[in-house]
Amino acid sequence: MISQATIDTVFETARVEEVIGDFVHLKRAGSNFKGLSPFSDERSPSFMVSPAKGIWKDFSSGKGGNSVAFLMEHSHFTYPEAIRFLAKKYNIEIEETEQSDEDKLNTDVRESMYLVSEFAKKYFHDILLNSEEGKAIGLSYFKERGFTSDTIKKFSLGYSPETWDAFTKEALGKGYKMEFLESTGLTIAREDRPFDRFKSRVMFPIQSMSGRVLGFGGRILTNDKKSAKYLNSPESDIYHKSKVLYGIFQAKQSIAKLNNCFLVEGYTDVIQFNQAGIENVVASSGTALTPDQIRLINRLTKNITVLFDGDAAGLRASVRGIDLILEEGMNVKVCAFPDGEDPDSFARKTSYDDLVAYLDTNAKDFIQFKASLLMNDAKNDPVKKADLIRDMVTSISKIPDRIQREIYIQECSRIMDISEQVLTSTLAQLVQKDITEVGKKVKQDQKAFEVVKNESPVQGAKVDVLYRLERKIIEILLLYGNKTEEFEDVFLKTNEDGEIENVIERKEYKVYQRVYLSLQEDEVELANPLFRDIFNDLIQYFLQNENLEIEKYLMHLNSDFAQEVTDILMEDERVVLHNWEGQNIIPKTKSETIGQYVSETILTMRWYLVDKIIDELKNSVSNEPGSDNTESMSMAMDYYKLINSFSKKLGRVMSRYS
Ligand code: CTP
Ligand code: MN
Repeated sequence: MISQATIDTVFETARVEEVIGDFVHLKRAGSNFKGLSPFSDERSPSFMVSPAKGIWKDFSSGKGGNSVAFLMEHSHFTYPEAIRFLAKKYNIEIEETEQSDEDKLNTDVRESMYLVSEFAKKYFHDILLNSEEGKAIGLSYFKERGFTSDTIKKFSLGYSPETWDAFTKEALGKGYKMEFLESTGLTIAREDRPFDRFKSRVMFPIQSMSGRVLGFGGRILTNDKKSAKYLNSPESDIYHKSKVLYGIFQAKQSIAKLNNCFLVEGYTDVIQFNQAGIENVVASSGTALTPDQIRLINRLTKNITVLFDGDAAGLRASVRGIDLILEEGMNVKVCAFPDGEDPDSFARKTSYDDLVAYLDTNAKDFIQFKASLLMNDAKNDPVKKADLIRDMVTSISKIPDRIQREIYIQECSRIMDISEQVLTSTLAQLVQKDITEVGKKVKQDQKAFEVVKNESPVQGAKVDVLYRLERKIIEILLLYGNKTEEFEDVFLKTNEDGEIENVIERKEYKVYQRVYLSLQEDEVELANPLFRDIFNDLIQYFLQNENLEIEKYLMHLNSDFAQEVTDILMEDERVVLHNWEGQNIIPKTKSETIGQYVSETILTMRWYLVDKIIDELKNSVSNEPGSDNTESMSMAMDYYKLINSFSKKLGRVMSRYS
């Protein structure tokens, strides 16, 4: 493990504009930098880097964070990979910390398995290119399939010789341990005589997103009906078939850049597409896509195009698996190839331009595609048609976004010639059933969901106000938390004439103290759970640290927090972004009037909350004859008075500064 001290040094040394400058052309804009978003194809810059805050924000995709977050998003590094990358860039020596013996053992085991797999990849590749047997059998096979030398190199294709234990012997000779040859499945141990799993096969290394070799697929070269065409590495500590996608390492940049991922079935489909010039393609390796695999793609894009072989039976079977992709909230298109063709054979005989054009014209939205496909079967059969409606609505019910569901209902109604009403009520039944089945947890999630999503316009507007106010409070803490400002305190005092009057005293507070104390006074907690957590965390941080250094603070946050905090911080800069577009509006900066801004926000928030309490009290007043509402009424009156005092104060705060 990398020591915390090293991580700290990396964060202290790395300049966000230098790190990003290696990947994005940045231009200075005031105290910030701007550039074209590396996450989308855009013409006017919406990508901002703030050296002062050590963060970046991409307004086109909503992504943002510090240097490490950039490397993780852009280059798809893991956290430690990003730290190591930065350490190298800035010549920082990496200090490794001791791990517990058990940690060490586990890491060592996996590390050794990675190492032996990497060795195997190199060995098979070398045999393919440099041995007589490899060239005569393996290389000529690949050439016959039309793979160029560059392609063979790009995918590190290889060949495993016909000798029983050629690889095992070589690996043992190089000091790799039998234990790891076995656990990776490269070698099969049988009593006295271990032998190579992949004997006389051409080899396809399977790599992780970051390029580590996890396992292999080996294709047989004969037409022997008795042996499987492909033999794959067995499940192991490093290879989980359901969690990898073939080609993802070569495809990741292109997927993120083009914001779409083609999904095919086989190794050779991926390779042939790459050679044809289409790189954003991965294979599920012959099985239905799993949720883990979908999430892997989801990290790079929301859009997926599933490519089907041109045989009808396979197509119908595959259509079933696609609901899973919808469930993850992804947009799915499908594209079928002509009868008898698969992506491999089709790409091989088609020019790049024609291939792109074919995919463009033939990729259909999944829901529409499925509806038309099944309608063909069910046209004149009412029983089939009823099944079809349920089937379609089931697919639609998997889509998390309500608006999108509605659009699909309209589409299906048109394609299948069924009233929207029937579809909507079927959908409602299904959704209801789902909710009951999944039970309480889902219900809770849905409630949390409703707070953010504005279901009814009236309630929505109220939720929005509170949301904005709470967000503003976090913003205040982040930007001005440890600034010292003057605030007004109001006391009740008895004057010389014995009357009680308001006395105003001006006193200095740290902004965070003022915010904290004011909310405490009303015994108020922020309603939004994420804001509440960030609020508590920030207050803790202020109590423990003299100063809030944004960069250090971000480091200690988990990714949900960090994302939200970055968003809030960068919104502040967005005003500047608009200025770049040529408008000469210079906003009055908030810091000129921090005291006012803080007081305003707190008062508005308290006002809003008390207003809500009054609403509730009003609602609790019963119209039943004979019921006693005096208490509720008098409480409401007290709260009205409080509101009055808020509005007076707020008026004073405003007038003093305006
Ligand atoms: N597959 C497998 N084991 C098999 C058959 C297939 O693991 N016995 C997986 C492989 O990942 C293969 C994919 O399913 O790439 C698709 O199978 P298929 O279309 O039969 O293979 P292709 O990759 O198209 O290979 P080829 O073109 O060489 O026949
Ligand atoms: Mn094939």
